[in-house]
Amino acid sequence: MAPVRPLLRRDQLANALAQDLAGESLIDYSAGMFLAAPRRTGKSTFLNNDLIPECIRRGWRPVYVDLWSDRDAAPAQLISGAIGTALARTAKKAGIEKINLLRTLSWDFTRPHLPAGTTLAQALSVLHQVSGQMVVLIIDEAQHALNSEDGLNAMFALKAARDHLNRGDGPDGLRLVFTGSSRDKLANLVLKSKQPFFGATITPFPLLGREYVEFITGLWNQRLADSNQFKVEDLAYAFDLVGRRPEMLNKLLAEVSVGLGEAGNLGDLLRTGALNHQAGVWSDYESAWNELSPLQQAVLEVMAERTLGRHPFSPFTEQTLIDIRRKLEQAQAEVNANTPNVQKALDALRDKELVWKANRGEYALEDASMAEWLARDKAVAGRR
Ligand SMILES: Nc1ncnc2c1ncn2[C@@H]1O[C@H](COP(=O)(O)OP(=O)(O)OP(=O)(O)O)[C@@H](O)[C@H]1O
Ligand SMILES: [Mg+2]
Repeated sequence: MAPVRPLLRRDQLANALAQDLAGESLIDYSAGMFLAAPRRTGKSTFLNNDLIPECIRRGWRPVYVDLWSDRDAAPAQLISGAIGTALARTAKKAGIEKINLLRTLSWDFTRPHLPAGTTLAQALSVLHQVSGQMVVLIIDEAQHALNSEDGLNAMFALKAARDHLNRGDGPDGLRLVFTGSSRDKLANLVLKSKQPFFGATITPFPLLGREYVEFITGLWNQRLADSNQFKVEDLAYAFDLVGRRPEMLNKLLAEVSVGLGEAGNLGDLLRTGALNHQAGVWSDYESAWNELSPLQQAVLEVMAERTLGRHPFSPFTEQTLIDIRRKLEQAQAEVNANTPNVQKALDALRDKELVWKANRGEYALEDASMAEWLARDKAVAGRR
């Protein structure tokens, strides 16, 4: 049985984002809201526990799809499945069994699947009409749509649905929310004019902060003796160190409380480096890094710099080659960066799942927080 995991409610954030979706704030999200934050920082939890209930409270019809939930299923199939399920539920509630909303389409709601040939725009349009509500389609792990032509077509279909349902002078019928663990990957949906959501901006999804640290300190201290308590400040420091990932923080706290020391000494243990290696994520990155060839390391470092500087990575430009060569010189390795070798290095990095290539050829780091680790690790190495 899974242990009970107490969750911090994030009502304020849900309310703020819903206001943005409703058009009550200065920023216009009617083109689509793109939220990016690193892996394991609480995106899906927030969508399901906070944003969806907030949508329901506001009288909207949320539909949630996780494009990673079934790796064998095509994105379009997953999205239409989720809309179909929502439609069947809504129709059942309204006592409707069959509908002839569109001239060419008759819908039998008692069947589990949408009729073959239904476009996503038609499906969303029917859901909007049957429910009488604004539909909020939430696509979690949206970057997976970029791995295939089918996925990209599904994104274009959603754009068409958005334009169809948000025109005219009536209230808008559809909002699209996309989340993903990589800003670079999501950027491949919005940056260029040929991409489906060209012109939309990517918003950093706010990470858990002080409120979470206080919440978790309280939870742990309840279980510990009065003489052995964690301090909020130490936990705040530790939480930053693990990239604001709840699971990593819990792992650290568990290690301290099973004997590495007194809870009150957590801060000292961290600051003296006694616990840094247990900080999990970093040691994963380090072992992956140590297995790379100097050229692969140099390519990865330049990619990381581009990520942190928010620039796209173009592998074969003269500037990139110069930068890679400089890294190799700094590492006192053989300076063997040329186009075929860099291509080979990129292929190897993809095999190791450190680098990711979009369907149309752009490259990005698989895990953007590796860029932060590299920056930090190099800074520490420089000081040594
Ligand atoms: N508000 C919260 N309160 C307590 N724990 C949380 C909260 N949000 C997330 N967590 C915990 O953090 C972990 C990661 O959460 P979640 O799966 O939502 O992250 P994610 O960003 O969607 O990750 P992934 O990149 O793998 O999709 C989970 O163990 C979850 O229980
Ligand atoms: Mg998730």
